[in-house]
Amino acid sequence: MPANASRRLLVTSALPYANGPIHIGHLVEYIQTDIWVRMHRMHGHEVYYCGADDTHGTPVMLRAEKEGLTPKQLVERVWTEHKRDFDNFGISFDNYYTTDSPENKALSDSTYLALRDAGLIETRDIEQFFDPVRAMFLPDRYIKGTCPVCAAKDQYGDSCEVCGSTYDPTELKDPYSVVSGATPVRKTSTHYFFTLSDPRCESFLREWVGKLAQPEATNKMREWLGEEGDNKLGDWDISRDAPYFGFEIPDAPGKYFYVWVDAPLGYYASFKNLCAQRGMDFDEWVRPDTTTEQYHFIGKDILRFHTLFWPAMLQFSGHRTPTNVFAHGFLTVDGQKMSKSRGTFITASSFIDTGLNPEWLRYYFAAKLNSAVEDIDLSLDDFVARVNSDIVGKYVNIASRTANFLVKRFDGKVLDTVMSHPLLQKLRDGIPQVAAHYESREYGRAVRLVMELADAVNGFVDSAKPWEQAKDDSQTAALQETCSISLEAFRLLTIGLKPIMPRLAEAVENLLGVAPLTWADVARPLSSSQPVSPYKHLTTRVDTKQIEKLLEANKDSLTTEAAKPTAAEAAAKKADGKGKAAATGGAPATAKGAAAADDETDPMITIDDFMRVDLRVARIVDCKAVEGSTKLLQLSLDLNEGRLRNVFSGIQSAYKPEELVGRLTVVVANLAPRKMKFGISEGMVLSAAGSKDQPAEGRGLWVLEPDSGAQPGMRIG
Ligand code: 2FM
Ligand code: ZN
Repeated sequence: MPANASRRLLVTSALPYANGPIHIGHLVEYIQTDIWVRMHRMHGHEVYYCGADDTHGTPVMLRAEKEGLTPKQLVERVWTEHKRDFDNFGISFDNYYTTDSPENKALSDSTYLALRDAGLIETRDIEQFFDPVRAMFLPDRYIKGTCPVCAAKDQYGDSCEVCGSTYDPTELKDPYSVVSGATPVRKTSTHYFFTLSDPRCESFLREWVGKLAQPEATNKMREWLGEEGDNKLGDWDISRDAPYFGFEIPDAPGKYFYVWVDAPLGYYASFKNLCAQRGMDFDEWVRPDTTTEQYHFIGKDILRFHTLFWPAMLQFSGHRTPTNVFAHGFLTVDGQKMSKSRGTFITASSFIDTGLNPEWLRYYFAAKLNSAVEDIDLSLDDFVARVNSDIVGKYVNIASRTANFLVKRFDGKVLDTVMSHPLLQKLRDGIPQVAAHYESREYGRAVRLVMELADAVNGFVDSAKPWEQAKDDSQTAALQETCSISLEAFRLLTIGLKPIMPRLAEAVENLLGVAPLTWADVARPLSSSQPVSPYKHLTTRVDTKQIEKLLEANKDSLTTEAAKPTAAEAAAKKADGKGKAAATGGAPATAKGAAAADDETDPMITIDDFMRVDLRVARIVDCKAVEGSTKLLQLSLDLNEGRLRNVFSGIQSAYKPEELVGRLTVVVANLAPRKMKFGISEGMVLSAAGSKDQPAEGRGLWVLEPDSGAQPGMRIG
């Protein structure tokens, strides 16, 4: 434990789902948390920042299936990608773990068994939609159909995007499964419930709500709790039926913990794993009478899970409860939801690959963040302007204008006698206020104050004009004075910015030859005994071309099928995390982190998608075997276009050429021409085939033929 540790804190950010990349929406939260954690470390507090991938649930299961992987294989790969992205953005987790861990299994089981022993688990039979093709129950967001209120088609199972109505999936007209397209059937199954409606839970939560720091969160929670006697809290459905990627419930074969049961316990599992690595006593941190503190940073969409279910689960399973939960708003880019078509759904890895400095984004987000549950906007022009003017123009400029005079003219030595100059005193008064703004999560205020102080320092440099002092021998002492004051001021500003830009701060520490800066170093000025090193470039300006490149890199190619999300991703993206406590349950809430996305893609296509395929009736005017091929036949097709088309088709195993001549068939007419070994193929003849699982010989192949009367060139649809 650090010698001066006065507080002991466990801090977490929400655990990202293991089915997609980290994007800038997620980063708002991780950057916000990381700044807070670093600020505490700089005070010398004992603080642990734990995270993990949230691995369980239907979306991960379906995503793995789509990629031909087991869920565990997918989870492993995504973990590596997430960890890489977090490292690149300087997110300083003490442990980054996974919810699919032995620690989490043990914690989930023991928590559940404690709740059961406390009489807070009940079973109930509920009827849900079931996909008969995939033999799986369908969460609301995996069912679509026609809105029962306004008749809009293709609406999700719990709400209509057209008229805004909310309803039960059973009310949808013509429902279909997003997973297979099949019509769902209703099926009954036994579910396990955490009885949040129990008076013990309600009275606990009524008291616990008083701890919340954010008025928006308190109000929301009061709304959920209602007035005394309203009995507004429903019981929480905590089980899901197989097939489900998750932990099986101990006394219930074939039943799995709903992902939102083991996800928050994943905070503890990650910390427990860290405790084992470092020989710390985990139990001491989680027992009800602990003196340690526990904070969770989350997005506003998952407040309910963290302020109702999570504390109640902890309270009634013999654990401590969170000290506080801090929610933030969503991220918009240029005032709009992040969008793949506009290229503003920006992944963490693309930001790095474009050569943009991750600390610029940390700075920009910090400048925008406050303690309220407010959305923040990344305005790309403002991003460029602010980084260039604040970081480069105001802050780094102080060192770049003064450090080398000290190095070249004074052996890098500052003048000890100027360290109590009024300007420096002003900064020494200001920087602790900056620390206090970080503590209260008013990062925007912290940044503004640092920049105000930087303005004062630049004003001092501008009026002293060291570049002129350097030319005048009579001003040598004044030059050393100016540069010493400026560099000490620069050091103090660096302390203020260090939680946001730790790498830049480290470069400054090296330049100034000082140990890692802490808040206590405000009172320890630079000294002539430690010479300053020659100034090296600390950072570069952002170039608008880099932003253009970034947007281009994130533009979704509408033609790249592999890049499209799975149904599960689309559904997960749609889910808004309302996380009903009602019996039907919801799809696991959003994979979006802190962002709202407006692009969804389903495996189901719309009529417009279908209409893009130009299917035509064609007459097979000629047909011959292809020399050198055992599979292909070469067909000359008449589509009533005034010319014949040449098409190669792999149907030689099923037809002799002469059997086909004169017949009508169906052709994809707008398929891009394809150059083959034997010539160019200008379309595709449709045929029915047996399953690929069958041996090739017995599989069968039947060329499609329209009913009699159809004419070449007729459009099909
Ligand atoms: O909303 C989400 O992205 C969830 N994966 C967050 C889980 S936070 C915690 F409970 F694990
Ligand atoms: Zn509607």
